[in-house]
Amino acid sequence: MQLTIRRPDDWHLHLRDGAMLRAVLPETARHFARAIVMPNLVPPVVTGAEASAYRARILAALPVDADFKPLMTLYLTEDTDVADVLAAQAAGVITAVKLYPAGATTNSASGVSDFNKVRHVLDKMAETGLPLCVHGEVTDPEIDIFDREAVFIERVLDPIRRATPGLRVVMEHITTRDGVDYVRDGGADIAATITTHHLIINRNHILVGGIKPHYYCLPVAKREAHRLALVQAATSGDASFFLGTDSAPHLDVAKEQACGCAGCFTATNTLSCLAEIFECDGALDRLEAFTSRNGPAFYRLPVNEATITLRKGVPVDYPARIATAEGPVTLFDPGFALHWSVDA
Ligand code: NCD
Ligand code: ZN
Repeated sequence: MQLTIRRPDDWHLHLRDGAMLRAVLPETARHFARAIVMPNLVPPVVTGAEASAYRARILAALPVDADFKPLMTLYLTEDTDVADVLAAQAAGVITAVKLYPAGATTNSASGVSDFNKVRHVLDKMAETGLPLCVHGEVTDPEIDIFDREAVFIERVLDPIRRATPGLRVVMEHITTRDGVDYVRDGGADIAATITTHHLIINRNHILVGGIKPHYYCLPVAKREAHRLALVQAATSGDASFFLGTDSAPHLDVAKEQACGCAGCFTATNTLSCLAEIFECDGALDRLEAFTSRNGPAFYRLPVNEATITLRKGVPVDYPARIATAEGPVTLFDPGFALHWSVDA
């Protein structure tokens, strides 16, 4: 059995910098035509000039025969200069702005605490149609980590959207039925990305039978009922939902320790995982909408002309980890055999 689809895009990706960038970029560029590149470097990518310089480093790290376009984002801070954002948008340097609540996840210390301080930026973005990518979790220590997405929708996201009519929002890496429902019923100005790993794991995978650091990511995986809601949304064909892998590599030494980093590295085997999930759900005919059509439609970009072919056969052997100049990075293990491979 085989399936030919338009080349996919990844609408949420961490490429990092330096040795890690050089190691992980080919893994994405092999299959994906474009990716929304997250700006949470240390220090973060805040200005148009920094986004431009980061894009140049990504292009310089691309394999010679690669056909891949990084779509850059700016990291929204309380000091963001709105004129700089508009100039970067007009110059075609950026495709979106990323909102991290301060302290919500890896390298988010410069994120927003007081949303009133960014209101003028959001107003301008609503005017120009520049999408806001949102990490949707509150950081209030009183709120249980498994409830942080649902509480964010109610206390932060919905008020921001009501106060900023026309603001175009991508709720990133949704993990709950609450997220699915909010986005599905939210009209044309909101969409959501769904990761590969949140379609596969629930919180038991992290915690049962010993703690599994390579399944720890943020937002943390929730209970099975939520995973099922995500699968239903992804395989439904609904244009509000599209792939953002949130492939987030960390060195194994940083994940396998007393206080391990959050992030699953899924770039290498994402398409094999997705084909398996969609096939299981009898939805292979809707895989292309999720990976290659719904994202460009929301971002108002053309779909890719090139295609890839997925082929079903004997289980594919993926390496357990990839090498970087600074040490190994473990690849996401879906916990089941992968029968679909992507033609070279
Ligand atoms: C991401 C990272 O490592 O940069 N980690 C993660 O668990 N997803 C940050 C993020 O997207 O939250
Ligand atoms: Zn991310």
